[in-house]
Amino acid sequence: MLRATSTFQYSVPRSFVQSLEGKAMAVATTPVNVERQLAWTAAGPAPSPFPAALLAGSANPRLANRVERALAIRLAACTTERFPDGEVFVRIDESVRGLEVVLLQPTSPPVNDHLIELLAMADACRRAAAARIVAVIPYFGYARSDRRDGRRTPIMGSLLADLMERAGIGHVITLDLHTPAVEGFFRIAVDNLTAVPVLADTLRARVPSDAVIVSPDLGASHLADRYATILGLPVAICHKHRISGNHVSISRVTGDVAGRPCVVIDDMITTGGTIVECVRTLRAANAMPDITVAATHAVLVPGALRRIASAGVRKLIVTDSVEITGEPVKELRPIIVSVAPLIATAIRRLLDGGSLRELA
Ligand code: R5P
Repeated sequence: MLRATSTFQYSVPRSFVQSLEGKAMAVATTPVNVERQLAWTAAGPAPSPFPAALLAGSANPRLANRVERALAIRLAACTTERFPDGEVFVRIDESVRGLEVVLLQPTSPPVNDHLIELLAMADACRRAAAARIVAVIPYFGYARSDRRDGRRTPIMGSLLADLMERAGIGHVITLDLHTPAVEGFFRIAVDNLTAVPVLADTLRARVPSDAVIVSPDLGASHLADRYATILGLPVAICHKHRISGNHVSISRVTGDVAGRPCVVIDDMITTGGTIVECVRTLRAANAMPDITVAATHAVLVPGALRRIASAGVRKLIVTDSVEITGEPVKELRPIIVSVAPLIATAIRRLLDGGSLRELA
């Protein structure tokens, strides 16, 4: 037996696997339940016949604890360790045989570690005879790699979909995917939730009625439309070109921003380069200098928050899909809106056989 040298350990102390609110559910050892199958045919989706277990990897323990509280299902115990050479070791510390396993793990930085951990946990549950594995991946890394960018390049989003299915994941729940193309890479069900309504609610009290929603590039324009519809505001779109991983340039903005307060929205912020360039472009187009930024995933690399603050942004609203790490910046304290209630509602509806449509 390999022994892992614990350079890193994450263990959720409260053990337990329990049924949703103690509801009586069909015994897991009888996976084919004729009555339920009939109910499905007659009246649409039926509740899961399996008791549920909630598991979380090490990527975002705070979010995991919030989801745990919102769902009232205790996190099952698991251990994650790193060998000295960087390899990942995981162990599910209680039985998941015959259970519907909900596995929460955003693939946030360090992306490759968290991804491998997710795959390893799914593989462990599959080999331990879980009935079904639902991966909740609030931030889905590599989603920007959705097509071949020239010759001899991979499509990482597609590769990840294959790996996840191969590891035994039977259903994916994610949040504001960078592109819907990623859904198409899966042959299993994918539910792409959106944080736009909760972020827009937070913005509502903070932006004046003559504000403009600004999309920093064409790709985020559908997201901008959703904010604009909820808030009843017009949209402007920037024309962005990516020069390298940490360098972008914006040539112009289409839409009326002169003399108006702007709200820049995006699905994610990584280096902050897009936001900084967008702010520069808006100021050059005579927008009001006080610019608000809202994004779902704060994948902030070191220095990103400082960079955005230095561009003069004083209001930044993000979710807790990714754990924000690094040095706080005095002038820019992000407002963090939790997506735990949204994720908990989605999980509950999924297990109860309900629709997730209004969450997407
Ligand atoms: C790109 O298409 C995304 O929607 C974001 O605009 C981008 O990934 C943000 O990255 P960064 O903060 O490094 O500019």
